[in-house]
Amino acid sequence: MFLWGTATASYQIEGAVNEDGRGPSVWDTFSHTPGKVRDGHTGDVACDHYHRYAEDVALMAGLGVNAYRFSIAWPRVMPTGAGPVNQAGLDFYDRLVDALCERGITPVPTLFHWDLPQALEDEGGWLSRDTSRRFADYAAVVAERLTDRVRMWITLNEPFVHMVEGYGLGIHAPGRALMFDALPVAHHQLLGHGLATQALRAAGAEQVLITNNCTPVWSASDSPEDLAAAETYDILHNRLFNDPVLTGAYPDLTAFGVEIPVRPGDLETIGQPLDGLGINYYNPTRIGGPGGDGLPFRFEEISGVPTTAFGWPVVPDGLRELLDSLKARYGEALPPVYITENGCSYDGLDDQERIAYLDGHITAMRRADVDLRGYFVWSLLDNFEWAEGYHQRFGLVHVDFETQERTPKASYHWLRKFLEAQSTDT
Ligand code: FCB
Repeated sequence: MFLWGTATASYQIEGAVNEDGRGPSVWDTFSHTPGKVRDGHTGDVACDHYHRYAEDVALMAGLGVNAYRFSIAWPRVMPTGAGPVNQAGLDFYDRLVDALCERGITPVPTLFHWDLPQALEDEGGWLSRDTSRRFADYAAVVAERLTDRVRMWITLNEPFVHMVEGYGLGIHAPGRALMFDALPVAHHQLLGHGLATQALRAAGAEQVLITNNCTPVWSASDSPEDLAAAETYDILHNRLFNDPVLTGAYPDLTAFGVEIPVRPGDLETIGQPLDGLGINYYNPTRIGGPGGDGLPFRFEEISGVPTTAFGWPVVPDGLRELLDSLKARYGEALPPVYITENGCSYDGLDDQERIAYLDGHITAMRRADVDLRGYFVWSLLDNFEWAEGYHQRFGLVHVDFETQERTPKASYHWLRKFLEAQSTDT
C-alpha cells in the first residue's frame, strides 16, 4: 500500500510543555531566550495538539490519508533524557496511536525531531558520544510500549539541518555556532540512528527508516571553482548523511578540515540495512564558490521561478531530479524511498499556490525511476516554524493561534479529492 500522509513534529504542534511530567527540551530553552525566535514566539501552546489530538486525527480521517508521520518528544518519555521513564508521557502517544489505528491511519513515529532533553544538552548534547547510547535506550523504551501497533519507525529527522542550524550556525536550538567544528554532531546522530535501529528491531519493529533532508545541488556555472564548490556542498548536505547509512562509509570530508570521531565498529552499526529511506525535499540549492567568508562554497539565488512566503524557490522537477540522482548514486543500495516531508509556506485559506505546489511535486516524483512507497505533506496544521515562530504557515489546515480553531484550507479539499481519486484508481 502506498502511504499518503501528513507530517508534523512534537515541539511544533503539541504545546503542554509543562504537563504530565514532561521535562524541558533544548527548544524550550532556546525559544525562551530573547532574540532567538521571531517575535519571541515559543512552542508553549503551539497547536495545543496534546489536548486536541482527537480533533486532529478526525481532520486526517476527513482528508482521507492512510498514514501519519508525527514525532515523539523524548523529554515527555524521559524528562532528563536518561533514567526514569515517565509513563504519563508515553500514555499520550499510546492514546494517539490508538486513535490513528481506530481510523485506519498507519502511525509512523519519528523518534527525534530536534527536541533533545535539556539535561542531555547540558552534558554536551549531540557533541557527546554518550547521547547516541541514550538515544538507543529511549528508542527501546518507546518501542516496547508501541511496537504492537507501530510497524514503521523513523529514527532521526534531518540530522543535517539539526547539525548545521543547531550546532553550526546557532540559528536553531541548542544555539551553538561552531561552524565545521559541529561535524562530530553528524557522527553522533548517525551512530544514534544505528544503535536505535538495533534497539527497535530487538523490540520487534518491522520497518526502520531514517529521514534525511536532501537537495539537488546546482552549480552556479561550469567554471572549475563553481563545480568544485557544488561538489563540496553536495558532500555536506546530501552525502554526509546518506553515504554512511547506505554504503557504510563517509565521503571525503577533507574540505572541511575536521576529523570525524569514528571508532571501530561504528560504520557497521550505522550502515546496517534499512527498510526505507525517508527524504524531505523542499527546493534545490544553487552553489558557487568559494565563499568570501572562508567557506568552501557560497549560496546563490535561484531566479526565474516562483517563491513561497518563506522565499524558498519552487522547483517541482527538483524532486524528480533528486530521486533520480539518488538512484544513480546508490543503485541497488538505495532502499525503497518515502517522501517524508514536502510542502510550502503560504498565507490564506484559498491557498491555490499550495495546491499548485503539491500537484507539481506529486507529478514530478511519479516521473522518477525509483521504488517510491509514500508521500507525506508537510504539514497537517499551521504550526511553530522554529526560528520563524508562527509566521510561516505550512498547514493544509489553518490554525487560529488565539482560539485554536482549525479551518481546512482549499488545499485540504483539493488533496481530499485527489486521494479519493487514488483509491478509486486502484
Ligand atoms: C523541515 C523540518 C520541519 C519543518 C519544515 C518546513 O526542515 O523537518 O520540521 O520545519 O522544514
